Amino acid sequence: MDTGSLFTPLAVRGVTLANRIVMSPMTRGFSPNGLPGSDVAAYYKRRAQGETGLIITEGVGVDHPAALGEAGLGENSIPVLAGEQSVAAWRRVTDEVHASGGIIFPQLWHMGPMKEANTGPFPAASPLRPSGLWGPSGRTTSLNAGYMERVMPPTRPMTDTEIADVIAAYGRSARFAKAAGFDGIAIHGAHGYLIDAFLWAETNQRTDGWGKNLAARSRFAVEIVRAIREAIGDTMPITFRFSQWKQQDFRARLANDPHELEQILAPLADAGIDIFEASTRYFNRAEFPGSEMNLAGWVKKVTGRLSMAVGGIGINKGYYDSMAGVETSAQPDLTPLLDRFSRNEFDLVGVGRSLLHDPNWARRARLGEPFLGFSNDSLARLT
Ligand SMILES: Cc1cc2nc3c(=O)[nH]c(=O)nc-3n(C[C@H](O)[C@H](O)[C@H](O)COP(=O)(O)O)c2cc1C
Repeated sequence: MDTGSLFTPLAVRGVTLANRIVMSPMTRGFSPNGLPGSDVAAYYKRRAQGETGLIITEGVGVDHPAALGEAGLGENSIPVLAGEQSVAAWRRVTDEVHASGGIIFPQLWHMGPMKEANTGPFPAASPLRPSGLWGPSGRTTSLNAGYMERVMPPTRPMTDTEIADVIAAYGRSARFAKAAGFDGIAIHGAHGYLIDAFLWAETNQRTDGWGKNLAARSRFAVEIVRAIREAIGDTMPITFRFSQWKQQDFRARLANDPHELEQILAPLADAGIDIFEASTRYFNRAEFPGSEMNLAGWVKKVTGRLSMAVGGIGINKGYYDSMAGVETSAQPDLTPLLDRFSRNEFDLVGVGRSLLHDPNWARRARLGEPFLGFSNDSLARLT
């Protein structure tokens, strides 16, 4: 198994990644009052020392009161990029990563409908939903029944002012990220959170310019990309994570065919996205009938931008299976990944749980050393 192809550099705007291995964003409530400390810096530094080409941080709340809920992690332990204190705290993280030769982007996050009322750093801030809908009932999901019961009742649609406020919040947080020394910005546009709730017809039933058709449903994301680009200038790359699946519905589809995918994502490419992260549970699956190509392959093809494959790299079970305790093991044979990569299907590979378990995963892949056996325990330790 020759992994050499993954260890070629990639230049994106003003940043050069040493290799194609990217740490996938993984939430971990270890930042009291939203501020990452020296343990968080050490956690990311270990992945940089382990030769990870690009680190995308855990989801980081944007500078908006309704951005974060509790998410089962204890009040206010999810980090934010909001205000000078957070800039100083993140500066320590980026300094440590840079000192180890790493590159790091924060994943900017607004939970939208997934925030539960009366939780998070601003409990009184009502959860925001494009049309007041949390999502359809009776779909395949791993969310618990109590939570579903509390969030299902419809609320009111977002007002134009609320939409403008959230867009501006992304711009401010991107500015804070730049001041904190981050090398680029990653946008969380997936998994049923606010941006995805605009993209998805089930949660966006607006009939105005923010929802009346596919293009209108992309407009919120486009405006966010513009606000971020305006805040950070031309040299820092921006990535956009999207997914067909939602936490509200594992079988959801944003795009039923490549043409729809293009209609949804091409406006984002035009607005300044450099890399699309295709969040799937298994990278090795065909996305649309008639071709073996996966979602990362299709997004590269229809947008002409760089793309990243995600899901089950180096590991044999999907994220939700292993979170539910299904026995999961390391998948030492990277041949299916390398075959697709060598066909130029995608440019980067996103590694989540494997890198959580083993900070030296990228180095091991380069040297052809055996990977460590995976244990679900590492999902709880998050060190
Ligand atoms: C503990 C944990 C936390 C996660 N948090 C986030 C997150 O904050 N943002 C996000 O986009 N994805 C999140 N994910 C999904 C991962 O980024 C990744 O897409 C998923 O784990 C599949 O990749 P893997 O099979 O390599 O683990 C999380 C996954 C795990 C295991």
